[in-house]
Amino acid sequence: MMRILHVAAELFPLLKTGGLADVVGALPLALGAGGADVRVLLPAFPAILAGTNVEGEVARFDSFAGPARLLFGKTADGVQLYLIDAPQCYDRPGNPYHDAEQRAYADNHLRFALLGWVAAQLAQGLDGFWRPAVVHAHDWHAGLAPAYLAAAGRPARSVITVHNLAYQGVFGAETFAGLALPAAFFDREGVEFHGNLSFLKAGLYFADHITTVSPSYAREITTAEQGCGLEGLLQARSGQLSGILNGVDEAVWHPATDALLPANYSSEKMAGKAKCKTALQHELGLDEQDEQPLFVVVSRLTEQKGLPLVLDVLPELLARGGQFALLGSGDAWLEEAFRQLAHAHPRQVAVKLGYNEALSHRLIAGGDVIMVPSRFEPCGLTQLYGLQYGTLPLVRRVGGLADTVSDVSLENLADDCATGFVFHDLSAADCLRAVRRVFALWSRAREWKSVRRRAMAQDVGWQASAEHYLALYQQLIS
Ligand code: ADP
Ligand code: GLC
Repeated sequence: MMRILHVAAELFPLLKTGGLADVVGALPLALGAGGADVRVLLPAFPAILAGTNVEGEVARFDSFAGPARLLFGKTADGVQLYLIDAPQCYDRPGNPYHDAEQRAYADNHLRFALLGWVAAQLAQGLDGFWRPAVVHAHDWHAGLAPAYLAAAGRPARSVITVHNLAYQGVFGAETFAGLALPAAFFDREGVEFHGNLSFLKAGLYFADHITTVSPSYAREITTAEQGCGLEGLLQARSGQLSGILNGVDEAVWHPATDALLPANYSSEKMAGKAKCKTALQHELGLDEQDEQPLFVVVSRLTEQKGLPLVLDVLPELLARGGQFALLGSGDAWLEEAFRQLAHAHPRQVAVKLGYNEALSHRLIAGGDVIMVPSRFEPCGLTQLYGLQYGTLPLVRRVGGLADTVSDVSLENLADDCATGFVFHDLSAADCLRAVRRVFALWSRAREWKSVRRRAMAQDVGWQASAEHYLALYQQLIS
């Protein structure tokens, strides 16, 4: 059996700040179902430790970040975990990256270097019984793993997956000396990035293979527009760069079985979806009507997500009688702008600020359209949840959104392959055209239903993608 070690900082359902956690929670199980022996290495953050059935201590060691214990255990879902128990680094409640005031922890370079370093120790036989053949690092948090592996003579092959190139883990040059990497690695041909230490660049430079979470994003990040300064390196490595789409964890996100919904449904029995809509309207204080579409957003409120476009199109959306509900948290000015809209239109607009897993399911089930107008989107998961729940995605044609949603153009309708509303330019005018297509399709109830059926039939599970990863591992090992 192929032994694969995933290395990450989040894992659903124990600790999540975004889609990364959903992927790390689901992909190992999908790979396991495909016949691989997969384990996940994580920092023992309090929420992760609390949700793990720890079976024992594998090793103790001293490192540049102080003493640590390596624990082995399993989640309730059966994901096999190695946890780095180093309280001086990880025993802090809440967000894994920053304190309650949103300030990045001053020792993040040590905390996440330790994660990569332990991965390389495992590859060298830290657990005398289990050594990975492939170390698969996720995002900058695990970006030094391929560098430590390279320093150790590459005892395992390595893959780094870029979930978001915009987060790079860049630290001052002075931090490098404390991380037990060869001095020669602090170089343009290495971990150095414009005079600083970059964890993500380290991963991109030293990994045997680079993946990102959609084929379109894999192309986009080789351009100056979306390469975040790393496009040169990514172009040079384009032979070892590929895109593999994320999937949906159907044990968590399926309308027929989702226990967080007031009613379940499937494409054969859609009555439950109407119940979800009414219940959601009731819960949010919106008019309980089914004459007009209900648009929803579930999102981090950051630059990436393009939400100012939603603010731009909302007046017309509301003038046409549509409803709008948002769940999210992030930039203060966006929170305030949406809050004001809800205040001005209490029966038509609802805004819930904060993070709420259960409400996110009720919104995605109860809505008619889910809006994801991102500036850039490596993959995006909420549009996949929308497809699965018959809540048609309205997306910008970028990254994984472009790869997973087909517009209701006449030709797509004729060929029965339309699944949502796609616009191209990052402009209110183009987004508005997509909103108008929503109302046009809505007025043709039969066609709406057939697009919805097509969306729900789209295979968004993990299996196909897991097979791509397994094939990649196989190719790297042999
Ligand atoms: P990203 O990782 O860039 O935030 P994704 O679409 O890949 O975007 O994943 C976002 C994940 O976080 C989804 O599972 C989504 O449902 C969830 N999410 C985002 N904001 C919230 C929120 N305020 N409450 C609950 N879940 C949220
Ligand atoms: C990142 C990206 C998002 C992607 C997620 C999981 O957070 O922003 O597009 O779906 O990672 O890969």
